Amino acid sequence: MNDQPRQTDPAIPTGNNESTELDLHDQVIYETPEPFEDIASGPRWFYLFSVVALVVGAFYLGRHMGNLDTEAHIGFLQAQKQQSGQGGAAAVKTVSGAAVFTSRCVSCHQANGQGIPGAFPPLVKSTYVLGDPQTLVRIVLQGLQGEIKVEGQAYNGLMPPWQDQLSDEETTAVINYIRTELGGNQAGQVDVELVQKIRAAEKDRQKPWTVPELEALEKS
Ligand code: HEC
Repeated sequence: MNDQPRQTDPAIPTGNNESTELDLHDQVIYETPEPFEDIASGPRWFYLFSVVALVVGAFYLGRHMGNLDTEAHIGFLQAQKQQSGQGGAAAVKTVSGAAVFTSRCVSCHQANGQGIPGAFPPLVKSTYVLGDPQTLVRIVLQGLQGEIKVEGQAYNGLMPPWQDQLSDEETTAVINYIRTELGGNQAGQVDVELVQKIRAAEKDRQKPWTVPELEALEKS
């Protein structure tokens, strides 16, 4: 900035030596000028890209966000639910009762349904399996405890409830499997509606059934 030779104060007597020294200083403290900042504009493709992104984004939101209505997706969810609801009757057929039986019941009642004498009662030829469907649904949903006689043999154990583990469809499927297929058992089919009805009516029941309770319900 300072390209003028330094003015020496005329009042101060200066020798030649001093003025050359000052000239040297001038050279050392010489500063390059501040760079000049221009208002730079970004690359054009960037502006074009921004505009395109904005337009595409706005179009996408307008198209898919249901006017930003909080209930916009409820219709979609309900349609889905209805579909699975309609599939209910078909689902009973597709849920395999044999598969539910193998995974849930075989450990105690055995694959052939004969049980283990003295510990787990047989399901084959059992009047509890072949008799009143309501009683069977109750046993499977809420379990069974206390004394019971099956095929002439007495048992006094505990069968766990299945209501929290098996859906209505699975319960219906396994019941129909043990009633109509297992070990040559032949009894009528049970509808999923009966399972739904008993599940709803007994949803507050926490403990397994006893035989006297079930017999009283059968008579009523
Ligand atoms: C943890 C062992 C166990 C499992 C698993 C089990 N049960 Fe039982 N079940 C028993 C016992 C024990 C009894 C007898 C309860 C008593 O003595 O009061 C019984 C009784 C029954 C009875 C009435 C008596 C009879 O023999 O007819 C039925 C029906 C029955 N179970 C069906 C099922 C079905 C269906 C499943 C599978 C979803 C199942 N059980 C899973 C232990 C089990």
